[in-house]
Amino acid sequence: MPDRDSLAEQVLRDHVDVARKVASGGYKWTPQAPEVIPAFVAEHDLGPLPAMQEALRHAVDMGGFGYHLGAEALGEAFAGWWSRRHGWEADPALVVPNASVLQGVWACVEAFTSPGDAVVLPTPVYFPFHDIAPTTGRRIADWPLVRDADGWHHDLDALEHLLADDPGIRMLLLCHPHNPTGKVLTEPELTRIVELAAEHDVVIASDEIHADFTYPGGAHVPTATIPGAAPITVTLTSGIKTFAIGGLKASVAAFADERLHARFLEVPANLLGGQNRLGNLAAVVGWTHGDAWVDELVALFDRHRHHLVDRLAAELPDVRVHLPESTFLAWLDLSAHEPGDRPDRWLRDRTNVLCKDGNLFGSGGAGHVRLTFGTSTAMLDEILDRITTGLSGR
Ligand SMILES: Cc1ncc(COP(=O)(O)O)c(C=O)c1O
Repeated sequence: MPDRDSLAEQVLRDHVDVARKVASGGYKWTPQAPEVIPAFVAEHDLGPLPAMQEALRHAVDMGGFGYHLGAEALGEAFAGWWSRRHGWEADPALVVPNASVLQGVWACVEAFTSPGDAVVLPTPVYFPFHDIAPTTGRRIADWPLVRDADGWHHDLDALEHLLADDPGIRMLLLCHPHNPTGKVLTEPELTRIVELAAEHDVVIASDEIHADFTYPGGAHVPTATIPGAAPITVTLTSGIKTFAIGGLKASVAAFADERLHARFLEVPANLLGGQNRLGNLAAVVGWTHGDAWVDELVALFDRHRHHLVDRLAAELPDVRVHLPESTFLAWLDLSAHEPGDRPDRWLRDRTNVLCKDGNLFGSGGAGHVRLTFGTSTAMLDEILDRITTGLSGR
């Protein structure tokens, strides 16, 4: 059993204990050969929040595994966190607990669309979203982000045309902030998106799981707070990215409108699922006591994003990357190196750093990999040393 103090100090010490990570048996650190550094999973290495671990330990010691009534505490904790950190005064009564954000996405597809309808995806985008079409009989309408010298952008004129040309579009799945590019939608951009969605009778499912990692210079604006958004917006989010607790399965679908909330609840309760006791407890503790710890973590990853972009610009300028405005993910364009159709393997074979294959993210992903910089500074430097050494001198 790891000792508590060293876990509690990980963020402040900016340290990752690899042996402990491997021993803990998580997906990120176990399946690879020992010489490979895993940077492929969107999970940071500095969790969990010490107070969360303490509360979980207490629950385990008490054998507190029975049925529970955690929904009320969760709604309050969610509303408190989103008010303090993102300025949204959410109604706790309209917060639906579920197991995962992806479950919430599929529930929205079920609740707000019919077979044959289309769902808009801002591509390249978090790869599991691409499973919507093959698993639900819905169509996908691609809304490609565009890139210029400043970075990635949502093309609002293209969205306008897409919605006008396909009357079967019933849902827009926003990834806000955007995985993998780290792009943050601004208030004017969100306002236009909401206008277009309302005009075309489209529900916005706004996946805001990365919201807590929005860096100085930007601000996360919850879609639901945009005027006109409430009747058409579902916010899907959780603390699993913030606190690195993906295995605990605890997320929410939050509403700002009773009618949309009621339509969502028409999905049978047993398909909507719920939270397990420990995940629910962890979410409540994180959203109640996590502020100072998350401030430290965000400051650390803010330094990391600059460090990564600066080092690559100086040492490997033909790997194109834009400063992410949010997330602990960097979207690396390796095209100049001609990495073939598996850029993740190509990179791993040269560097022993494993990233996520950009092709999985859909259009715009070829030649790219997604790298997780949510780790210690020393580990990030080791990753960057390996990449710069492995790819230079061709
Ligand atoms: C944008 C986005 N949504 C959802 C998830 C997954 O959330 P969950 O495990 O709660 O389904 C991730 C995880 O990487 C993500 O990046």
